[in-house]
Amino acid sequence: MPSKPWDVFTLDDFNLKGRTVLVRVDINSPLDPKSGRILDDYRIRSHMTTIRDLEKSKVIILGHQSRPGKNDFTTMNAHAIRMSQILGKRVEYVDGLFESHVRQRIRAMEPGQKILLENTRFYSEEVVLKGEKQNFEGTHIVKHLAPMIEFFVNDAFAAAHRAQPTLVGFAGLVPNLAGRVMQKEIEDMGRAFDPGLSPKIALLGGVKVDDSIDVARHMLEDGSMDKVLTMGVVGQVFLMASGLDIGEGSTEFIKREFPDHKEMIKETKSMLDKWGDRILMPKDVAVGNNGRRNVVALSGLPVPEPIMDIGIETIVEYSKHIRDAKLVLVNGPAGAFEYDKFSIGTTETFRSIAHSRAYSIVGGGHSTAVLENLDLSSSIDHISTGGGSCINFLAGKALPSVEALERSKRIFEKGPFQKH
Ligand code: 3PG
Repeated sequence: MPSKPWDVFTLDDFNLKGRTVLVRVDINSPLDPKSGRILDDYRIRSHMTTIRDLEKSKVIILGHQSRPGKNDFTTMNAHAIRMSQILGKRVEYVDGLFESHVRQRIRAMEPGQKILLENTRFYSEEVVLKGEKQNFEGTHIVKHLAPMIEFFVNDAFAAAHRAQPTLVGFAGLVPNLAGRVMQKEIEDMGRAFDPGLSPKIALLGGVKVDDSIDVARHMLEDGSMDKVLTMGVVGQVFLMASGLDIGEGSTEFIKREFPDHKEMIKETKSMLDKWGDRILMPKDVAVGNNGRRNVVALSGLPVPEPIMDIGIETIVEYSKHIRDAKLVLVNGPAGAFEYDKFSIGTTETFRSIAHSRAYSIVGGGHSTAVLENLDLSSSIDHISTGGGSCINFLAGKALPSVEALERSKRIFEKGPFQKH
């Protein structure tokens, strides 16, 4: 059960046989930028339950890959191939979103056929329009696709914290239904709000620092988490905000990656002033270049090499908190885990979580790959397909996609569509 009961349509509320159904998935996956090869297909595999449940429908699938400007921002061709392999049935890639050739293809669809449209973020409306107050229904994407479909299924839990046309724009136009991934995520993670699960701790790592800081503030403010343990680049920003010079390599990285880093650090500092006793920062770090791992205590900083991982003292301290907690959430790695020498922080904290008795939730695309490599997936209570959406949900924040699903139910529940 979520923080508050949710009231949405699901696939069980309608007979979708022969119907034209637009399914928004989140198959944004780690890709090898050179070959375009999908490095981890966890999200793609997760959505197959929904797609299989729509076997007798005409299924139009929509998704995004990465963000404009990133080196893995590309077409959905590889995703369609991978989906076809998993399903053992063809998922045809159509290189457009609402152009006339796409609309023609949709009109010609037969029940049982599945097509995957182009990366929604190739279209400026999807990336530029943000925030709840936008007229998503008036976008070309929604205006062109809505008349072609009878139902919209939102299965993109991993993007549920984004208010964007292909996620929330169809709510008032056709019945919106939660797909199987969306349903399972909200229902399984809702357990985290059980007041008996205390203390609750969140380990926030990775590079999506802006999302993590915003969520950490919310978690500490409303008490949805007792403590926040920082690592990865998130931890580095907290260290900077505490007044520490973290060295040229890491400082330059943060300045380059986050144009609004000054604001970010100011905000982080005010959080430390308010909740310094509930925010944990690394006690030591591993720095390195050319694969050399050197562990330095904070008193040994600054050094010119970039921080690549947390050190052993931090691992020990974080593991103790994990052992004592009743709920542990982890989102994002502790360091540059893709290099063997800097994977220790991530693998050791994940091992502690897998061996703890706490209700454990792991989020973030990269985290799932790490768990699978370590063969620890079965020891985790819930592996979320989401990163930002997972931590936003557990911080008790409203998710635009969930709100759109609820709004759509209110609009359409008295309509002529319902099966029962
Ligand atoms: C994710 O990977 O967390 C989702 O696909 C959302 O991606 P975004 O952070 O680029 O909006």
